[in-house]
Amino acid sequence: MTEDRYARIYALAEPYWQTRSNELHVPESYALARELLDEHPEADPDVVLPAILLHDVGYLVVPQEDLLKGLAGAAKGWEPDITRRHEVQGAALAGEILAEVGWDPARTRLIQEIVDGHDSREHALGIEDELVKDADKLWRYTESAVRICHDWMELSPDAYMDWVQSEIDAWLFTATARTLARRELAHSRAALAAEPVR
Ligand SMILES: [Fe+2]
Ligand SMILES: [Fe+2]
Repeated sequence: MTEDRYARIYALAEPYWQTRSNELHVPESYALARELLDEHPEADPDVVLPAILLHDVGYLVVPQEDLLKGLAGAAKGWEPDITRRHEVQGAALAGEILAEVGWDPARTRLIQEIVDGHDSREHALGIEDELVKDADKLWRYTESAVRICHDWMELSPDAYMDWVQSEIDAWLFTATARTLARRELAHSRAALAAEPVR
């Protein structure tokens, strides 16, 4: 699952992934973040990897009926209030979990800042923030995201894939992520053609 260094954070974060398909999204984004880090040795993995594990933990503390409201508005973009609340709650919870494992305080503060703006802040604070934002959005190109998210967006799988393809340059900061997005999307298109959504 993950090497020891991040295993405790992973284990403490995982219970908070049980909503909005985050139990698939977060581990898959975590794997994509590791691929991004392979190409970006200048980025600090002790910021990027905890941040991606913790970035969406705030969703579980947003009440269920409000989440549904968020999903209903998804076709027009994520409902801004839900987006903001899961960031603020997530940053607080990330601070508690990182304190519990004794993570470095300076890194913890940066991780909290990254979590706090991972959806709402359009610019990135630095390379670590860029890689977290990219790993988060890269999931949208994966087969599991296509099978799940086309419904959220009220689009057919093909229309969903065309849409995310058209946003590659707008959503992703690094050339590495753009390459991975194209790879994932090619895989998704082949997988969906072989086994269409019923
Ligand atoms: Fe998020
Ligand atoms: Fe996310």
